Amino acid sequence: MCGIVGYVGKDEALPKLTKGLKTLEYRGYDSAGVAVLQNKEIYVVKDKGRIANLEELLKHEHIKGNIGIAHTRWATHGVPSKENAHPHMDDEKRFAVVHNGIIENYLELKDFLIDKGYTFKSQTDTEVIPLLLNYYYKKEKDVLKALGKTLQDLKGSYAILVISPLLGKTILAAKKNSPLVIGKNESGIFAASDIPALISYTNEFYFLEDGDVALLNDTITFYNDEFKPIKKKSKKIDWDMEATNKNGYEDYMLKEIMEQPEALKNTLNGIIGKKIEFLNFSLDKDYLDSITNIHIVACGTAMHAGLSGKYAIEKLCRIPVTVSVASEFRYQDPIINAKTLCIFISQSGETADTIAALKLARDKGAVTLAITNVFESSITREAKYTIYTHAGPEIAVASTKAYTSQVGILVALTLYIKEIRDGHSKESDKLKEELINLPKLMDVVLADKDIYKDYAKRMYKVRDLFYIGRGNDYNIAMEGSLKLKEISYIHSEAYPAGELKHGPIALIEDGTFVFGIATDAKVEEKTLSNLEEVKARGANIVLVADKEEAKDMDIIKIPKVNPILAPILAVIPLQFIAYYIAKEKGLDVDMPRNLAKSVTVE
Ligand code: AGP
Ligand code: GLU
Repeated sequence: MCGIVGYVGKDEALPKLTKGLKTLEYRGYDSAGVAVLQNKEIYVVKDKGRIANLEELLKHEHIKGNIGIAHTRWATHGVPSKENAHPHMDDEKRFAVVHNGIIENYLELKDFLIDKGYTFKSQTDTEVIPLLLNYYYKKEKDVLKALGKTLQDLKGSYAILVISPLLGKTILAAKKNSPLVIGKNESGIFAASDIPALISYTNEFYFLEDGDVALLNDTITFYNDEFKPIKKKSKKIDWDMEATNKNGYEDYMLKEIMEQPEALKNTLNGIIGKKIEFLNFSLDKDYLDSITNIHIVACGTAMHAGLSGKYAIEKLCRIPVTVSVASEFRYQDPIINAKTLCIFISQSGETADTIAALKLARDKGAVTLAITNVFESSITREAKYTIYTHAGPEIAVASTKAYTSQVGILVALTLYIKEIRDGHSKESDKLKEELINLPKLMDVVLADKDIYKDYAKRMYKVRDLFYIGRGNDYNIAMEGSLKLKEISYIHSEAYPAGELKHGPIALIEDGTFVFGIATDAKVEEKTLSNLEEVKARGANIVLVADKEEAKDMDIIKIPKVNPILAPILAVIPLQFIAYYIAKEKGLDVDMPRNLAKSVTVE
């Protein structure tokens, strides 16, 4: 995770670095630091805490310089602390390094360096990089050679930026399995973990591939992994910066919840007509008839969207679908081959486990399709096909509009597969119509936010919360439970409604709140009976359903839709209640503790 940024040019580096860091803060925010080259010396300022804290510290320093690197951290190795904050340097202050990723063999490298007389100041894996650079520089007397040898030693993932008095006004950049983009304008050259950090400076970007190295000074020189100079073409990115503002909302999360109808509309725009058509993605009947199964792989909320994708595909297309958590998929020797269509869902397009899973599926001969929200993100360069959700930038750590857009696009994809295999049917035309009409119904659900606030006021002091449902309603329950946990720090669990009596019902006490999700007429009665069972044990029930009333239960009524589409409506009250509970508790909803938006480490 973490964000890195670098600048070399005509202007003062510090303001550009801190501005870049602020837009990267959603990637990690436990500590931050900068290194600037001033009069051939490296100056480092860093500390535990957020970027605002770093800015305070910088007010008391008088650092000037036109070249610098910066970091906002999400700790993987070593607690958040000043010592562990980046940039890291060698004792002789020859190299300052910021790093995003994990050096998996750092213990081995650390032992090697200690053996050579080096001492370590931090517990991070990163510190081996400046020390190795120092070690190899002493042997090779050449910085590029030292970098080449260092990179050869590193196992794992890295996007790194290096400055050094030995290089003068040059930043070294290298990447493997972690993202790094480079941009240029009349003021200078920039490098960063992602596009939003640089979009206010330029809209032309170079994307480093794994193994690439770049030298940034007056110009940009690219090298491949054998240090042979290579040419790279820039890509123009048209992004609306307005979309990254809060637009008068108190938090990004609230803004993003409210943007959901628009996000879904934009996502489906141009896709659903008489036929369903995707830009730059098509599958033919022969291929679709030849596949034996579909595998959906993702993490967290994206995985929950994937579960609803499974529900839709299996219901309509009768193709078996497996959904895997990406970090598990990689190590379970998955049974996939050329007859498996593999779908990878990732809002950011940067999730390390999802990308690694995609590479594995590709190596096994499967057709790979990425569904992502971020244009030109890493996953798009690895997948055979990409479909974008056009939800607009999602900044809050808790995913909301990306989720509803993902479910929407998965339903569109389901209809696409069904129509190619089986032709048009009344059933699919009806679902298509309902899908297009959905943003209007989302507005209806959004309008009840005061009701959701009242629920939050009743619940915010509880220790545990439960969410239950069957079928697709269970998928919604899981997403509701995750939203609550991540931003309110209240323990919660989601269970298939019928499973409670096999153990978890023991946790129900007088006054425990249980959300029941019941949007599918087929299983509604069963879920209601399960809710009666917990009510009989003292629970307070809140039912999210498309009906007016239920005996002795509070009801949050949502409009009736096909159960395939229900997650898109039923999740909204759950997102709001999680949001308002966190607000009642006075928490930072956009940047909850221990989390980061983009999980670029395994
Ligand atoms: C969502 O609220 C979470 N913050 C998290 O589960 C997230 O969905 C997950 O990390 C996957 O991210 P991605 O979609 O960017 O791959
Ligand atoms: N592994 C490094 C650390 O713990 C970098 C972490 C990151 O990429 O966020 O400091």
